Amino acid sequence: MDDNDIPTAKAENLANGGAIWLPWPGQPRDWGPMGESDGSAMMKITPIGGALGVAASGIDLKQPQDAATVDALRAAFQGGLVLVVRDQEDLLPEDQVRFCEFFGPLGARARPAAERPESADGPPEVMFVSNRKENGRYIGSLPEGEMQFHMDQCYVERPARATCLYAIAVPDSGGDTIFGNLCAAYAALPGDLRAIVDASRARHVFSYGSTSTDQVDQAPKISEFIQPMAVAHPETGRPALYVSRLMTREIMGLGPQAGGDVLDRLFAHQECPEFLYTHKWRNGDLVIWDNLCTIHARTDFDPKQDRHLRRFSVAGGPLAAA
Ligand SMILES: [Fe+2]
Repeated sequence: MDDNDIPTAKAENLANGGAIWLPWPGQPRDWGPMGESDGSAMMKITPIGGALGVAASGIDLKQPQDAATVDALRAAFQGGLVLVVRDQEDLLPEDQVRFCEFFGPLGARARPAAERPESADGPPEVMFVSNRKENGRYIGSLPEGEMQFHMDQCYVERPARATCLYAIAVPDSGGDTIFGNLCAAYAALPGDLRAIVDASRARHVFSYGSTSTDQVDQAPKISEFIQPMAVAHPETGRPALYVSRLMTREIMGLGPQAGGDVLDRLFAHQECPEFLYTHKWRNGDLVIWDNLCTIHARTDFDPKQDRHLRRFSVAGGPLAAA
């Protein structure tokens, strides 16, 4: 993504330098008139979480959007880190792709094509997070259960810049996604941990389909990559605490005991409620999140209930140390 594509003047107004930052604290903001139909449509951006998260309302993503709306969505994403758009009924894959491309080029799957459960006749970039089965086989990935905190694709050189999920069917309860603000977590680090984070890199591992550290560690095949522990936000430069319980295994240069103790402290810190927002899904929700500056986890749910979400990502580059 070109820096010129981001409305940085607005974004600079968003950052308050504190541990918790929101685009427009406490105040919904109208971005209108939008569209050319009757000039009355208004998109509203509203903070939804204390730590991160904004919602856009008054927008129909089945329709193309004008430049001002796209700018406003980018600013909301940059400031809120998690952008929620509710009530997007019957959104087609091409609608979701158009939305993702507001934020950058579409990302490729990290998982090799031969190991994907998705059928070959769909877009190659699509992934389903789903417990649906056809002919006795899951048609998507990560079908069931709780999933620990992680960043998507941290175990490859170029993790996705953003991940976008569209809810086609969700359970009556559970299966929530909990997001954590890694910029806020970094800003609130105690001095001894910050010194280690600033100076160190960490090894991230993953085996496709794993939802807990035990599964990852017992898997026969893993992907892995070493990343900075303080990652710079690509547009603002703000540091993010780039570690997660599910996928971060080693601090380079520290032994297993010392490194493990530090990681345990970092995981406990970044998972504090003050940095989190829990998204309770409704059918028709479209959510895109900053995959460098947030972690996410999934709560458990009844496996007998239908849960089917469609995922695309926005491509990212190599990570820069803050
Ligand atoms: Fe994920």
